[in-house]
This record gives sequence, structure tokens and C-alpha cells, in this order.
Amino acid sequence: MANRFRTDLRWSDVTPRAMFMNRRQLLAGAGALALAGAAPGQASAKLDYKPSPLSLTGQEPNTLEDISGYNNFYEFGLGKEDPAANAGMLTTDPWTVKVDGMVDKPGDYALGDLIAGLPLEERIYRFRCVEAWAMVVPWIGLQLSGLLDRIGVQAGAKFVSFETLVRPEEMPGQTRGILDWPYREGLRLDEAMHPLTIMATGLYGEPMPNQNGAPIRLIVPWKYGFKSIKSIVRISLTDTMPQTTWNMQNPAEYGFYSNVNPTVDHPRWSQASERLIGSGLFGGRQETLMFNGYEDQVASLYAGMDLAKDY
Ligand code: MTE
Repeated sequence: MANRFRTDLRWSDVTPRAMFMNRRQLLAGAGALALAGAAPGQASAKLDYKPSPLSLTGQEPNTLEDISGYNNFYEFGLGKEDPAANAGMLTTDPWTVKVDGMVDKPGDYALGDLIAGLPLEERIYRFRCVEAWAMVVPWIGLQLSGLLDRIGVQAGAKFVSFETLVRPEEMPGQTRGILDWPYREGLRLDEAMHPLTIMATGLYGEPMPNQNGAPIRLIVPWKYGFKSIKSIVRISLTDTMPQTTWNMQNPAEYGFYSNVNPTVDHPRWSQASERLIGSGLFGGRQETLMFNGYEDQVASLYAGMDLAKDY
């Protein structure tokens, strides 16, 4: 699955926004007929997906330019424009994912084999970064629960942990001690099995841009963006809470749960509101919603917990 995505692509090079929106409405309305994903005459590189009922409605996605031009991916540098500038050198094919720990089918899987046949969906989600900015992104991905069912989670497993590739020759940020590589993240098993949690392989109908975490990354829409680990090469099932990069880096500021919560401030800034990327300097500040707006779907996962303590 060659990733032919150019890092310098602009929105207008791909699909005019109106055409994308129309195609999406067409897909949503046409049901089974539209399952092929790509309309006749469109490039075969398009991913084969269907729209998801779990997508947001009534919110227009950010432009491809914003989504792939303003990124956090410290393996490629600290600046928001560094990933777009540097991630083009990352080789994403072939790609191997190690599956280990408390699973029935451990192994080193070619990515294509690991996800073959698992249904791809477009999931339009709000994405809220801990730095108090937000976007709306039309991800393409598969439910993590389907992948976990495929590898066979053993009784007693309680957590899933993930690791990003370490390849300093292609990831210049890894030649500096910015973080303790590999980038690591983890979820409680019930969070990982939740239908909103996906492994994304693309966005805007195309394979994932390298700077957004090609060829496969996690998306957990009710948590701060740093939980959504990119360019994953290892998935492990454990019975103990895994170490996570930002918690290791600064435990006073970043907890394991990292649920979006406007009532619990980051020690150095408020989380009560957020800036919507792409809406200009003066507009676009909006209130942050509990669990990033997914409260109805996920609040029950945390019943009885003190979210100021388990932040
Ligand atoms: N994954 C890796 N491997 N390295 C990173 O630096 N940054 C995280 C997360 N995943 C990061 C990562 C942070 S802080 C955010 S906000 C999101 O990726 C950004 O995703 P985006 O660039 O697709 O918006």
C-alpha cells in the first residue's frame, strides 16, 4: 500500500470542497450502492470506505491544508510546520506491526495482512489538542475493537499499549533528545473497545498523509490529541497500566486518562475554551465541551471516578 501522498498537496489539488461535500452527501444517501467509496472516474488510489453513523453532522471539516499543514509530530521536529516539511522522507511501505502480550495471535504482521477485510469508514470527528486548539477531521479508519477481536484479547488483559516507529534516519527529531523514544500511548481495554475508537489509515478519502501519522494511527476523539499516537509499529495487551510518553515526560501536567475536560485546567493554561484552527485570528474561539462533545457516548466509562484526580 504505497503512500503516494505528497506533503505539499494543497486542497485545490485534490478535490474541490463542494465536490467532496456533495460526494459525502451522495454516499450518505445512497447507502449500499455507494459502498465502493470512489465515484466512477475517480483515481483508484481512493480508499474503499463507507460513511459512518458515528460521524458528526452539521460541522464542516477543516481544510486538508489545515489538517496536514499544522501538526504535532515531534519525531519530525517541534514546530507545527516541521512535520509537513520533513515527514515526506518517511518510508511507510513496507510496514510491520508487532502484536504481543496477552493475545491469542501474537506476531510480526505486514500491515496489509493485519487489517485486510476490516471495514473502513469515514469518521468525521472533532479533534481537540491539549494546547487548546481544535479541528474537525474526516478520518478514514477501522474500529480498533475489530482489530482486537482479530488478534484475540486474552482473559485478564486490561490495557492496550501502542508504540511509534523509531527510525532516526528518517525521523530527524529522534536524533535529538526531545522525548524518550519511542512515543508511547495506552488505553484501558474498555476505552480501546469503544466503538468511537478507531485506527485511522487515511483522511479526506485518501491514504494518510505522513505528517498525520501514516500508515496507521490511533484516534480517540474524546481525549486530548496526544493520546492519538501516530505511525504505530507495536500493539501490546497487558494487565498493568502502560507507560505513556507525556505522563513520563511531565506527570504533573499529563495523566494517563487525558479526557477532554473543560473543568480541569492544565497547570499552565485554561481548558475552558479552544481556538478552532482555520477560523482566523479573531473568530473561532468556542467553549470546550466535556469529553470533547462525546459525553453521551463515553461518560459511563468513567462513572464513579474523580476526573480531577484521574486527569
Ligand atoms: N504521535 C507521535 N508518534 N508523535 C507525536 O509527537 N503528537 C500528538 C499526537 N500523536 C504526536 C503523536 C499530539 S500532541 C497531537 S495534538 C496529535 O498527534 C496531532 O495530530 P495531527 O497532527 O494529525 O493533528
